[in-house]
Amino acid sequence: MRETVKVDLGERSYEVRMGPGLIAQAGTEIAPLLHRPRVRVITDETVAGLHLEELRAGLGDIEMSALALPPGEGTKCWAQLERACGWLLEQKVERKDIVIAFGGGVIGDLAGFAAAILRRGVRFVQIPTTLLAQVDSSVGGKTGINTAQGKNLIGAFHQPSLVLADIDLLGTLTARDFIAGYGEVVKYGLLGDARFFDWLEANGPALAAGDTAARLKAVRRSVEMKAGIVARDETEEGERALLNLGHTFCHALESATGYGARLLHGEGVAIGCALAFELSQRLGLCSQEAPSRVRAHLKAMGMKTDLADIDGPLPDADGLIALMAQDKKVLDGKMRFILARGIGEAFVTSDVPRDVLKRLLEDALETRRA
Ligand SMILES: NC(=O)c1ccc[n+]([C@@H]2O[C@H](COP(=O)([O-])OP(=O)(O)OC[C@H]3O[C@@H](n4cnc5c(N)ncnc54)[C@H](O)[C@@H]3O)[C@@H](O)[C@H]2O)c1
Repeated sequence: MRETVKVDLGERSYEVRMGPGLIAQAGTEIAPLLHRPRVRVITDETVAGLHLEELRAGLGDIEMSALALPPGEGTKCWAQLERACGWLLEQKVERKDIVIAFGGGVIGDLAGFAAAILRRGVRFVQIPTTLLAQVDSSVGGKTGINTAQGKNLIGAFHQPSLVLADIDLLGTLTARDFIAGYGEVVKYGLLGDARFFDWLEANGPALAAGDTAARLKAVRRSVEMKAGIVARDETEEGERALLNLGHTFCHALESATGYGARLLHGEGVAIGCALAFELSQRLGLCSQEAPSRVRAHLKAMGMKTDLADIDGPLPDADGLIALMAQDKKVLDGKMRFILARGIGEAFVTSDVPRDVLKRLLEDALETRRA
């Protein structure tokens, strides 16, 4: 049971290899990339505790040492970036060496960014360990950190040289982290593949319950879609923005909740997708059935779907809109939205009247008081 998808980017092309048991073969997979038999690994403490020795064993004769950072979104910050870069320099990582990002999206983004700026760019391999990282963040070369001003505002495009997605690693995720990653899987169906969304409606429960074949199929289809979009639009001049379905809302909510355990990124994406479909319906772009179906599936999977599912205080509608205006997609001062004409039919637009947006958020906030 093994799948490979190529990300076609000319001389920066690379493969995403997926399947169970891949970690055990990490050495064989990575060896062809190495100039000398030595890798440096950046991971987080949780992943290190669960899987680092497996990786060490899988690397065989390749010498490895690792830096384990604290787990969680808070790690995507200047201080931990400085720590990671300092460690890689102390370890005398050279231009031709390989850095391995071994963890979820937080580690992938931070270690990828460290690799991008270390000695003006060293190569790196992504070994994603969360569902979110396997279906999304490990592919496509977006790397970076958060700052007080917002999410992912400091970063670089730096493509990995290889991605190894071992489906078995998903088995140790908490149910909450697994299902948060599922938010990004659903996103692919919603943005461009209605049949995949149908398949998820039917197979989502088996996938969540641990069915390896279903997990592999979902990871493969997601990666295939992402790889296609990235190959056509690497630096997000157009189509790649579709991958941000739900993210303008999500980033505002993550900022409002302090990038922490109150709201995980994938949970924010799910709520954001529900809001994007609701907004599309209010603008007369899609039928009432579409947002209802989106919400029904998210709820059936036990996901956060509404603002009412977020504990603690939130800003009012104007406050949320101000946070949304910090989004990277803002162009000439205008917010850009990913909306949909139906399931699988997303598009980018700046044409969203502020009063409709404000009303949508007011109504969504009202559900918290109900
Ligand atoms: N670069 C991109 O294109 C892109 C795309 C989407 C999201 N992201 C970023 O990804 C980040 C979120 O990623 P995430 O959801 O993977 O979060 P994460 O990296 O914080 O991982 C979630 C939690 O799961 C734990 N964990 C990881 N692997 C595990 C395993 N196999 N078993 C048990 N626990 C494990 C981690 O320690 C952490 O506590 C956000 O910062 C987001 O901005 C980036």
